[in-house]
Formats: sequence, C-alpha cells, structure tokens
Amino acid sequence: MAFELQILDQDLPVLSSVAMRALELSRDDNISYHLIDELIRQDPALTQRVLRVANSPFYAGNSQSLTIANAIVRLGLNQLKSILIIAATGQLFDARDPYIRLLYDHAIASGLGASYIVQGLSRMRTDEAFVGGMLHDVGRMIIYAHFPDIYGKLLDEAKQSHRRVYQLEVENFRYFDHTSIGALAMRKWKLSQVFVEIARYHHLPEKSLPNHLHSMMIISGACLASIVANNLGYGFTVCPWEDVPSMACAKLLHFGSAQIEALKSRVTEAFAVHRAVLT
Ligand SMILES: [Fe+2]
Ligand SMILES: [Fe+2]
Repeated sequence: MAFELQILDQDLPVLSSVAMRALELSRDDNISYHLIDELIRQDPALTQRVLRVANSPFYAGNSQSLTIANAIVRLGLNQLKSILIIAATGQLFDARDPYIRLLYDHAIASGLGASYIVQGLSRMRTDEAFVGGMLHDVGRMIIYAHFPDIYGKLLDEAKQSHRRVYQLEVENFRYFDHTSIGALAMRKWKLSQVFVEIARYHHLPEKSLPNHLHSMMIISGACLASIVANNLGYGFTVCPWEDVPSMACAKLLHFGSAQIEALKSRVTEAFAVHRAVLT
C-alpha cells in the first residue's frame, strides 16, 4: 500500500543565506576574491566546513589553507564553488544519525568514484563529478529527515530483502521518490542544471539528454560510482560484480571489468582517508 505522503517545495531544506549568496557571487568570473572571503567569514560554521573540505586530500594535495582567502587563491573560483556546495549541503543533515551516516558513506564513496571515472575522459571536471556523486542521492537524506520512521524501515527492508531502495520507494510513495526530491532540491538551491539532471536521472542515465554528451557522461559516472559504492558496502543493495560491466552506465562509459576492478581499489583506499573530513 502506498503512503499518501508529500514533500513540497516549501518543505525542502534551505542552504544558509551566506552560502546562497556566496554561490551566486562565485558564478561571476570577475568577482573580487576579497568580497567572497569577507562574505563566507560572516558564517563561522560554514567557514569551518569550507576549510575542512578545502583541506581534504581530494582538494588539498600537499598544501593546506588556513584561511578562506588562501583557499580561493590556491584553488580558484570553480573549485571553491564545488567546495561551497559540499560544505553548505553538509550543514543540512545530522551525521550522528546512523541512517544519515550510512547515506553519507554512500555519498562520499560515490563522489570519489565518480571523480575517478571521469578523470580519464577529456575536458571533464573531476570536482564537478565529485560534487555530483556526493549529491546524487541527497533526495534520500531529505526524505529520511522528513519521515525518519517510515524511510528508516524502508532502508532496513532494502538491506534485508536485497531489493533496491528505489523500487521500494516507488511501491511505497505515491507522489515522490528520491530522484524527484533530489532534483527539486538542486533547483531550490539554484545549482547548475547538470546537478539537477544527476539527481533526476542517475538510475536511468540512458534517459538523460542523449544529445548532450557531457551530461550523459557525468550522470553515467554518478550511476556507476553509486553501484560500485553499494557493492563495496558503502550503501544499500548489492548486485553481482559480474553484472556491472553490462549495465547501461558502464556501457555508456565503456567501462569493462578491468576498469571496474581498478575503480574498486581506488575508492576503497580513498574512502578511508576522506570519511572523517567530509561528513
Ligand atoms: Fe539513487
Ligand atoms: Fe546511489
């Protein structure tokens, strides 16, 4: 029996006003770094998170930033924008909750996986893939935050029955699933269209705009990274490894078993060092 529950646009979480304004400013290539620095520093919690993400191994390399100003100079506006998105959305959910924690583990492993997948593809930005992977299932966190008992049970059921969470959502909710809620949230947070599409189509990458190669590649990256993350134990329903190369996203990316094997070890290795800093 499907629940008559609804989540409307006005029910979706909002990013802090400082984060929204900083994201807006960072879209302008001619903006002064000083202005963004000054703005972010008005929100000490956000500042702390931005620095934590900027100093994570994914972004930092060998150099650390002690101030926002330094992080902007070191990483540039595009990367700062990605860091801001991760930091600002990270403020919305309580990672002490075990279900949110598991969803974060899935997000981090998928983000890392997606960035490694697109690394070999020309002209693809790995940080964009990273953010897309991190956020592809944000709709699940939102549904869980609204209906913790019902959705918590559904996540448990998926684990026990080995059925897909997405399928259980379709059976249990009449008006939404995590892909529609995720896409709605990306729009509300005014994130770029590619993130809306990742949220909406990561279970059906072949249905994304077929004539837009960039979107299709980045959505397929999030899709494949999510499957690999689940199979590695960072998430929910697993599937046989031998089935992965024949899935639509792996085919679209020309990822065979050798590449998937390599991806597995890279994600496992990187997850261990990123879990603490990115949650
Ligand atoms: Fe999903
Ligand atoms: Fe996922």
